[in-house]
Amino acid sequence: MERRRVVITGAAGMLGSAVVDLAPPQYEAIGVDLPDGDISVQSEAMGAIVPHGPVAVIHCAAYTDVDGCTRDPETAHRVNAGGTRNVALACAECDCHLIALSTDYVFDGEKGAAYDEDDAPNPINPYGESKLAGERYALEAHDRVLIARTQWLYGPKGKNFPHTIVTKGRKLGSLNVVADEYGSPTYTRDLASRLWELVERRLTGILHCVNTGTCTWAEFARCVLEAAGAGHVTVQDISRTEWESPTRRPEYSVMVTRREAELGLTPMRKWDDAAREYAKQYLSDD
Ligand SMILES: NC(=O)c1ccc[n+]([C@@H]2O[C@H](COP(=O)([O-])OP(=O)(O)OC[C@H]3O[C@@H](n4cnc5c(N)ncnc54)[C@H](OP(=O)(O)O)[C@@H]3O)[C@@H](O)[C@H]2O)c1
Repeated sequence: MERRRVVITGAAGMLGSAVVDLAPPQYEAIGVDLPDGDISVQSEAMGAIVPHGPVAVIHCAAYTDVDGCTRDPETAHRVNAGGTRNVALACAECDCHLIALSTDYVFDGEKGAAYDEDDAPNPINPYGESKLAGERYALEAHDRVLIARTQWLYGPKGKNFPHTIVTKGRKLGSLNVVADEYGSPTYTRDLASRLWELVERRLTGILHCVNTGTCTWAEFARCVLEAAGAGHVTVQDISRTEWESPTRRPEYSVMVTRREAELGLTPMRKWDDAAREYAKQYLSDD
């Protein structure tokens, strides 16, 4: 059987590495990342994608340092908006499907309820602005595009919240964690499986892809500490206003999905089941 090729941008990153790892047997995953192809340079984005003749691209590459984007919005725009446009143009050139990852930070968090795919975005920081511009550029540049929005990612590769919490918690014994900001923690391996399903289905438009359910950072911290065997670490609730950051963040940017059921997709599992599995497997002392 000849395997169909799928290019994964940002393949060395937290999500991209899980996507490459979980490629189904009928697909050949071709991972691309810096320093070999800078997506913000159009010729390099073309060169990283077109010669492979892929049936799809899963675009995970991004400038994801939220505070870095606040300090340097030009780079955020160049990579997250311009880079996504370049990837979409390359997909148009080889007429392949594009799944472009995006974020809950396209929303302002002021709705007071969870956001679904029909809600109007209104980003309140440069990272969110650059990602929303990337969504719009991609949808303009090509007609076979799915925007897959996700949030609060964690997984085996890269720096992430549960890893930091468990490592610091073991060292310090007590941590202050924000207890008035809400989201849906999403496991990269669950999301990667969903993305491969979406490659198979060739869906277009916008889809929210998150583990089910909602929590605060403090609840997320307690869950992973317990599962990692570090339940003795004390978590002190603090307010988001006490957390120093140059970036304004949405307070309640929980995402839900209306389209998932319409499309007959199985809901992704509950956030705490996924978080416990991850913490036991990757953060436990045993
Ligand atoms: N992490 C989250 O909580 C979260 C939440 C919502 C949405 N998302 C979205 O999900 C996607 C994956 O996120 P992630 O957490 O896996 O990110 P990540 O770990 O930071 O990985 C992104 C990858 O893209 C690469 N990259 C950066 N600039 C590039 C450029 N100009 N050209 C080519 N590659 C470049 C990075 O390389 P370097 O490391 O060398 O810079 C890195 O390997 C992104 O679209 C992100 O916006 C993430």
